[in-house]
Amino acid sequence: MKQLTIAGNWKMHTMPSDAVALCEAIVHHSSTANALSQGHAVVLAPPLTSLAGVVASCMGTGVEVAAQDCHAASSGAYTGDVSAAMVAALGATCVIVGHSERRRYHGETDVMIGEKAAAAARCGLVPIICVGELLQDRQSGNTNTILQAQIEGILHGLGQQPLTRAYLAYEPVWAIGTGVAATPNQAEETHHFLRTILDDGQGALRGVPILYGGSVTDKNAEELFSCQSIDGALVGGASLVAETFVAIIQAAIRVGAQAA
Ligand code: 13P
Repeated sequence: MKQLTIAGNWKMHTMPSDAVALCEAIVHHSSTANALSQGHAVVLAPPLTSLAGVVASCMGTGVEVAAQDCHAASSGAYTGDVSAAMVAALGATCVIVGHSERRRYHGETDVMIGEKAAAAARCGLVPIICVGELLQDRQSGNTNTILQAQIEGILHGLGQQPLTRAYLAYEPVWAIGTGVAATPNQAEETHHFLRTILDDGQGALRGVPILYGGSVTDKNAEELFSCQSIDGALVGGASLVAETFVAIIQAAIRVGAQAA
């Protein structure tokens, strides 16, 4: 059976009380429990200010909680940042690193992102490592070259740190928040390429599930999940409405059942 991961990245949305209400609506829905019982994974990534509240709401449900970033250092003079250990201490089990919005607005590089993933792993967190090309890269036919360079930089940053569990999230920047998702063919082709380069050799990312992100909705999730090399989704906007996010979870259940 195909086991999928459905992760919601809430970005800088939801005040603490809204976050807990959204979380409660998702975790107490019967489809969420069904999905988990069938081996699918559900991950919620609220803003840091809501992390503890969402962790408390998810306690005992099997739904995992992710932070949206962490620093690579264990402590230090980094005003405004949080370490992986601090995230873990709040009860999160995962952390997103290298989202294109962090790359764009905070100047994060591939090596830094690899270092963050290593810091996360050292603290027992599961890193969800993001890569993706810009529109001009895709239009000029450079998608694979860009992605390969991103992976190489990330592996360099990871160094010798073993990863017990991790995810790669392929998020084409042109698909994020635009309503224009990659077509299933585009996504499958790129995931297949990523699968090949990750599994080629003994790199730390060998075998990691690859999530697709970029305008995933309840309308396109089933078709994307049906693609052979797609192991789940990192959902932005559509994860902010419980009904829509649950509908995406239901799509995963249907695809899992078909592939059984
Ligand atoms: P959207 O689903 O809103 O396009 O965002 C995708 C994303 O950036 C998830 O990390």
